[in-house]
Amino acid sequence: RGRRVASMCGLATRLASLTLCLNAQHGTAKRLASTLGSMSITGGARKAQFTRSLEVAARSLRDGGLVAFPTETVYGLGAHAFDEKALLRIFEVKGRPKSDPLIVHVHSLAMAEKLVCVNDEGMQLLRSLGAMFWPGPLTIVAPAVAALPSVVTAGSGAVGVRWPAHEQAQALLKAADIPVAAPSANRFGHVSPTRAQHVMSDLGLHDILILEASEAGCCDVGIESTVVKLDEQSQQLVLLRRGGIPESVLASWMQDHGGPFELVIKAPSSSGSSASKAAAVTTAAPAVSAPTASPSPSAHEEEIAQEAPGMLLTHYAPDVPSYLLRFAAAPAVVCEAAVAGAGEAPCELKHAAVLDFGGRAKELAAVAMAYRDLSDVADAAAAATRVFEFLRWAEEKQALGARYVLLPDVLGGDAASSSRCNDEHLPALADRLYRAASGRSARLVENGFFVADAE
Ligand code: TXA
Ligand code: MG
Repeated sequence: RGRRVASMCGLATRLASLTLCLNAQHGTAKRLASTLGSMSITGGARKAQFTRSLEVAARSLRDGGLVAFPTETVYGLGAHAFDEKALLRIFEVKGRPKSDPLIVHVHSLAMAEKLVCVNDEGMQLLRSLGAMFWPGPLTIVAPAVAALPSVVTAGSGAVGVRWPAHEQAQALLKAADIPVAAPSANRFGHVSPTRAQHVMSDLGLHDILILEASEAGCCDVGIESTVVKLDEQSQQLVLLRRGGIPESVLASWMQDHGGPFELVIKAPSSSGSSASKAAAVTTAAPAVSAPTASPSPSAHEEEIAQEAPGMLLTHYAPDVPSYLLRFAAAPAVVCEAAVAGAGEAPCELKHAAVLDFGGRAKELAAVAMAYRDLSDVADAAAAATRVFEFLRWAEEKQALGARYVLLPDVLGGDAASSSRCNDEHLPALADRLYRAASGRSARLVENGFFVADAE
């Protein structure tokens, strides 16, 4: 009987390996497709053009073209916010569902005020938030003026406005002198772009202009803006997405300057636990979870308006199966039967590209196929600056045979007790890593293996 159990377990292990292998091959196929895409980009089918000219970029925006431009958070893919045809092309080029509203970028508080329709109290809060956090990585969602095309608001009647801090973004917005709707300039669901080249490799087959960042660089914040919604009826300022302005900074500012408004948190926290995974899906009531490595919008998704942005379980995701690495005190000893029973097969670390935080997994550098630390001193702000670039770096290791990406669970394990800096940026960083892993986690087991946790 023992032998039969052992052989059944062996079979289960092999089946599970096969599943993972197919999973990896699915990733390989997708990678191949994207490699072929970039080959054809270099082979002549490329339509996107780099430019360094603000004038050319500004003129293109005014004339209904799409322009990818650097900001202090990530690259945006911009279009004239009142040109419906141009706006629709954003969705087409990104493969983004029309249920996802666009942030409108402005060059002044006065321009922002013209896009919203709020009562005196609401306007007062918008002005004081703007005076404090703009230009900068804060998006304020408020009731929109009727003239704004509904494709910007996804039919919600509310518009997100942001005055970016990046010098070139400001110069472009001033030169164009129009409000510019711009989501991040990546394929829908993929890793956000922080370099002109990232935009080219995601969207290069489309007829767009890509404004190259000056020597001074771009995307120092590295993750997207914090999104808050100004709700006049309930006198709440609702935090919808964590980002460049930390929740703790907003909370203490609101206490002193929020007047009748109180800050309410609707963005889920991402601890990497299965409980928070459930929260990521269920607290975003109108959002849809898309548990594949790179989601494509379904007809169902098209119909559902999202109240809370950035809540899809899969977002910012590399085209390779990715997991948050949970840290136990020591690698667990795994017996084949236990692993087979849980429906998981051990995966070899030598096939994994590993991203670390604060050197917690540095012993994996010797075993993993590739290893990089987002910040060896566990500085969350520095890690946020690099996270999307490093996710793309890890994804590219697929060409060298990487089958998995392991990501740091920055809020879990012994991280809480170790010394870190800029901790107020940890929740937003954790959110990006959690969604890049589609909420999946894994743990180390002995002898150079890891096991994906049951989903
Ligand atoms: O830092 C950023 O915010 C970057 C740069 C380019 O400005 N933009 C960006 O855009 O991240 P996007 O579209 O990738 O993400 C913006 C999120 C979306 O998930 C969208 O659902 C949400 O903000 N959003 C925009 N307008 C909204 C609205 N009217 N109501 C609720 N959510 C909104
Ligand atoms: Mg985005």
